[in-house]
Amino acid sequence: MAKVCVIGGSGFIGRHIAEELVRRDFSVLVPTRYRESAKRDLIHLPNVDVVEADVHDGATLERLFGGCDAVVNLVGILQGGKPASPYSDAFRRAHVALPTRIVGACRRAGVRRLVHMSGLHAGKDAPSEYLRSKADGEAAVLSVQNEIAVTIFRPSVVFGPEDQFLNVFAALQKRLPVVVLACPDAKFQPVYVEDVAAAFVRSLDADESFGRVYDLVGPKVYTLRELVRYAGELAGHPRPVVGLSDRMSYLQARMMEFVPGDLMSRDNYYSMQLPSTSDAALPFGIVPTPLEAIAPSYLGGVTRDARYSALRVAARRGTRGG
Ligand SMILES: NC(=O)c1ccc[n+]([C@@H]2O[C@H](COP(=O)([O-])OP(=O)(O)OC[C@H]3O[C@@H](n4cnc5c(N)ncnc54)[C@H](OP(=O)(O)O)[C@@H]3O)[C@@H](O)[C@H]2O)c1
Repeated sequence: MAKVCVIGGSGFIGRHIAEELVRRDFSVLVPTRYRESAKRDLIHLPNVDVVEADVHDGATLERLFGGCDAVVNLVGILQGGKPASPYSDAFRRAHVALPTRIVGACRRAGVRRLVHMSGLHAGKDAPSEYLRSKADGEAAVLSVQNEIAVTIFRPSVVFGPEDQFLNVFAALQKRLPVVVLACPDAKFQPVYVEDVAAAFVRSLDADESFGRVYDLVGPKVYTLRELVRYAGELAGHPRPVVGLSDRMSYLQARMMEFVPGDLMSRDNYYSMQLPSTSDAALPFGIVPTPLEAIAPSYLGGVTRDARYSALRVAARRGTRGG
């Protein structure tokens, strides 16, 4: 049985990738900073080993990678703390230094396959620290592609039962009488977490993906305002959405940096200046799952028709094979 080390495998996307790997008969190793909470989320999966480890230590990584056939890196953060140019120490550590250590440890441990998570429109000149640091992480990983077969994925926002996107908008509308929304016209092309997991796992033995960077997007573009309204409707608490001007959006983002919960920052505001959209099709013949087929099943307060429609689409996906 081939073995894959999934760094960041305890997170939202990582749990789905671990599940897909198990379905495809891989054994999985998940290093984490917090074994007990990671174990809770992964315990139902056979052939998944969860170990507490400091993944920022090169020797620890090398030891973890011994006996692995491939490594998947999913570690990422959305908030980097105090702004800096080109990015803060927190972004550097998670998005650049860690991938650099990972490729070093892959070399030393003899791992020849690496799949790496980036973000849509990562770029050296991108407007946000998040996207600039993701670009340098990509460069670190691609720099070894003559020795290690590397594949990089760049999703737009990812939706699924435990997402921190639609669920947050739904929860906010349960609590607030009105949503005052920064960047209401920002564009997103949400991609389903299971489609992302399928792309990662199918890439592992797909030679054509070696050395490639893939955008991962869903079938439809929405504005942020549309997504917030949709989440409120599905949750059964639709509230009026008041969109802020550009200037007020920036100020709200600035203020939110002082509020616990990491809901929004200026860096998120800068990321949203770029439409999170792409013309790319999903790789490996994966058919992108519509948001409307899945979101009703997890956002609560759903109508029976919406739930049945979601179940029908899920059943069709199950019979599609692949
Ligand atoms: N979710 C999205 O919509 C989306 C969209 C585009 C790209 N992405 C990218 O996809 C990746 C996974 O996203 P996600 O939503 O699954 O994130 P998540 O739920 O927050 O999970 C992140 C994982 O990374 C680990 N981690 C976080 N900070 C770390 C640090 N400083 N050092 C070591 N490990 C750390 C955590 O592990 P432990 O806490 O167990 O140690 C956790 O398992 C990220 O790289 C993100 O940038 C996500």
